[in-house]
Amino acid sequence: MPIEVFVSEKELKIADSAVKVAQELIKKGYQEKQVVQKVKKIIKKINIPFSAKDAYIAARIRLKAKEKFGILAERLFFDESGYRYSTPSIVAEYRADRIKCGVADVSCGAGMQLAFFGFKGFSEGVEIDKKRAFLAAMNVQSLNSNATVYWGDAFEFKTSMEIVFSDPARPESEEVRTLSSLKPNPLKLIERFSKKQFVFELPPQMPPERVNIEGEKEYTSLSFRLNRLALYTGELGSCDVSAVSLPSRERVTSDDEKLKLRKGRVGDTIAEVDRTVTHSGLLENLAGKLGLEAEIIHSDGRRTLLSVRNVVESAFLRYYEVIFTANSISECAKELKKEGAGKATIRFQISPNKYWELRKKLEKDLKGEKKFHIFKIGDLFVGCLPHSGTNFVQ
Ligand SMILES: C[S@@+](CC[C@H](N)C(=O)[O-])C[C@H]1O[C@@H](n2cnc3c(N)ncnc32)[C@H](O)[C@@H]1O
Repeated sequence: MPIEVFVSEKELKIADSAVKVAQELIKKGYQEKQVVQKVKKIIKKINIPFSAKDAYIAARIRLKAKEKFGILAERLFFDESGYRYSTPSIVAEYRADRIKCGVADVSCGAGMQLAFFGFKGFSEGVEIDKKRAFLAAMNVQSLNSNATVYWGDAFEFKTSMEIVFSDPARPESEEVRTLSSLKPNPLKLIERFSKKQFVFELPPQMPPERVNIEGEKEYTSLSFRLNRLALYTGELGSCDVSAVSLPSRERVTSDDEKLKLRKGRVGDTIAEVDRTVTHSGLLENLAGKLGLEAEIIHSDGRRTLLSVRNVVESAFLRYYEVIFTANSISECAKELKKEGAGKATIRFQISPNKYWELRKKLEKDLKGEKKFHIFKIGDLFVGCLPHSGTNFVQ
């Protein structure tokens, strides 16, 4: 039976000051061994599984965690794997806002998503790894979140919460992502907690048709990149498939009326489509929702480009103005020079070892300021600049 993890205020304070001291020493250039030695004196007063080495690791992670957790980073405790698989705060906040109430998070890791659930209402978390269960307890406490953490196995956990959430552990790599390799296995959790409603974080690489659990499949884009797939069962879902772009929270769903997109040719304006939309099969729904007058000019699974006649602001689209087209790389290089380019980012598939060779060729002798993007449509090279009328964020 999972047992409640308890961290006293005093222990949390001591652990925090140990991490802060370690951060200062790392910044001054001290090596791991020296930092651990110095921190040992502080940490020996606590009775939780958080060693001087753990404080050193947590300190190193705090120094880089701003990108994922903003100002919260300075109050958090992680081990390497807990940090790597932790939910970024923008996503965690969105997920908690959408579910709106407290939940049982039955694979809570270092507790980041759990902490955000706790901001919405009392929540419970279970984690099978003892050290990480303590990190989760430290994090929820440090963030003043209304959550309790248990150390143990999800399948032995009893909860009165109505909603069960799980962001399961997955193998680092797999040829084809499946539900059966997830731990805890969502299908078995449904059996175990048969009367509850569920939200699962599944591998986003899985297309909608491969998710064989009934519910809304919501693909999340974080800064124009496919980041997550959440499945909401029962009344928690509102359609079959959806995509949401963060941080803007713009949504498109399979209920949005479709607009058929035909194939076409390069015009004056190109829109690059967030892969989250194409992967979830919602491109025509997005076109319908936005009233987009567009044609598909390129689609290769990784990148979809449209030629558009009307520019409609959307977080799922990045617009470019077409400045020139060229039939060869040398012609492209000439055009770049003529147009006052300083940089040329290659936006088509090319093997990584050829990328810099080509980029050097294109950027040779460029003295201008403009940052061009080079697409390849069929055999044509297309030189573009970010569209001036839109919030183009790279
Ligand atoms: C992807 S992490 C969760 C990250 C978390 N959502 C966050 O935001 O920090 C998955 C966690 O599930 C835990 N886990 C795997 N099987 C479990 C089980 N049977 N019971 C409880 N936890 C389990 C793993 O140890 C791992 O820490």
